[in-house]
Amino acid sequence: MSARPFSSSESAAFRGLMARWATGVAVVTARDGPLDAGLTVNALLSVTLSPPSLLISLTQDADTTPVIQRSGTFAVNFLAADQRAVSERFARATSPVEKFRDLPLHRGTTGVALLDGTLGAAECRVAAWTPHVDHVLIVGEVVHQELGRDGPPLLFFRSGYAEPTGPDGLRLPGTRK
Ligand SMILES: Cc1cc2nc3c(=O)[nH]c(=O)nc-3n(C[C@H](O)[C@H](O)[C@H](O)COP(=O)(O)O)c2cc1C
Repeated sequence: MSARPFSSSESAAFRGLMARWATGVAVVTARDGPLDAGLTVNALLSVTLSPPSLLISLTQDADTTPVIQRSGTFAVNFLAADQRAVSERFARATSPVEKFRDLPLHRGTTGVALLDGTLGAAECRVAAWTPHVDHVLIVGEVVHQELGRDGPPLLFFRSGYAEPTGPDGLRLPGTRK
């Protein structure tokens, strides 16, 4: 845990600063026996190319976090611009059954759910697990990847989603063009 004292106004200011950092949006999926779990994330980055690896940051109290810890595997599904409803569904504090109800998907090599209609997905084996304050930083080594549709991404900026303006156009929140 961090020992440095901080104020709530400092946290709010940092939230406002990070809202100016545009990101893509992904759904992380995991599987524990017959049960699927998943959540929306934008704290995601690639780490190494050889071997291919990436990092996600999850709150320790997310229901999906212990599922990844138990199974040692997870997948990231990169959402397309027209998958805002999928992002909203996986960001809700609802049961995994609700999140996956009637959702088109297929299974990866480890059995984890890979969502249909995404720009691509990477299936990972947990290579490092580093708790930090109320989060855990998870490095995943990619064991399988697939490219999906070739279209515009779902983007998150200023605490909102970019709006598709055509087949390839996106309008960012708070901007006119
Ligand atoms: C755009 C967006 C990005 C998010 N990114 C993260 C993230 O990177 N890590 C995280 O732990 N939660 C993130 N969340 C919040 C989780 O999606 C949310 O808490 C979810 O309900 C957790 O689901 P679970 O408890 O079923 O695992 C994000 C939410 C949104 C809308």
